[in-house]
Amino acid sequence: MIEPLLEYSHVDISYNGVAVVHDVSFSVMPGEIVCIVGESGSGKSTLIKAAMGQLGANGCVTRGDIWYGGSSIPDMPARNLRLLCGSDFAFVFQDCLAALAPIRRIGDQIYESMLAHRSINRPECDKLAMDMFSSLGLDDPERVLASYPFNLSGGMGQRVGIAIALLSEPRILFADEPTSALDVIVQAQVIELLGEINEKLGTTILLVTHNMGVVRAIADHVLVLKDGEMVEFGSVDRVLDNPTEAYTRDLLAAAPKLERLEG
Ligand SMILES: Nc1ncnc2c1ncn2[C@@H]1O[C@H](COP(=O)(O)OP(=O)(O)OP(=O)(O)O)[C@@H](O)[C@H]1O
Ligand SMILES: [Mg+2]
Repeated sequence: MIEPLLEYSHVDISYNGVAVVHDVSFSVMPGEIVCIVGESGSGKSTLIKAAMGQLGANGCVTRGDIWYGGSSIPDMPARNLRLLCGSDFAFVFQDCLAALAPIRRIGDQIYESMLAHRSINRPECDKLAMDMFSSLGLDDPERVLASYPFNLSGGMGQRVGIAIALLSEPRILFADEPTSALDVIVQAQVIELLGEINEKLGTTILLVTHNMGVVRAIADHVLVLKDGEMVEFGSVDRVLDNPTEAYTRDLLAAAPKLERLEG
């Protein structure tokens, strides 16, 4: 039997002692794309931050477990979790450019982050980065490497962010609304790209999105959250075509369409 790669089991999460996520359980199988949807404040970011130990000083998993490779992430010593985040997990932000240092060239920042995980020399690193840029549709990889974050458009920035995440060859890519700062066309391209990465590299992806069109286009399973509680979890066809809960039907009714990606 295939084991889940990541498993949330009856997870409660609090900030400053106030519970914001209640009894959430779902699994992510290897090679899958799982989307988390729900209105603002429903706990989507909190759930993925918990898996990466990024809840901050006032956040805490107060009950339940998040299982990865036989270990409970909330019980893991900080050092082990840091190692895991450098090797097995990677994160794509809503605004990748803002997460980079503004006054250092992209190539320098990539080299620094690669050195933190493995021994590599600069020419090797540049070659890997440029190959990754090319495969992610960045036309002039040499120029991207020599650029500062402010030289890049939002769409290029998200591709650079995804490239940096993938260069560490993660088993799980956590993406928190990676397209919400982009215009609709570039959004569709970045989503298409995530689908390709999943197919070609087998990278498991846990994706937070507001957009049910995105879910329809690329997800295998979907978790619907409301006020920190699980509304439903199931295969994308089941949840989108036969939602059992009124809340899911409301979300679907309000969904923008990503027609380009369908069919
Ligand atoms: N660092 C924090 N300290 C205190 N409360 C927080 C913190 N981060 C999030 N919260 C609260 O936890 C709840 C869930 O927030 P979270 O950011 O996970 O929601 P979300 O679904 O990602 O929302 P959005 O769609 O707006 O990004 C909200 O009530 C939020 O106010
Ligand atoms: Mg969020």
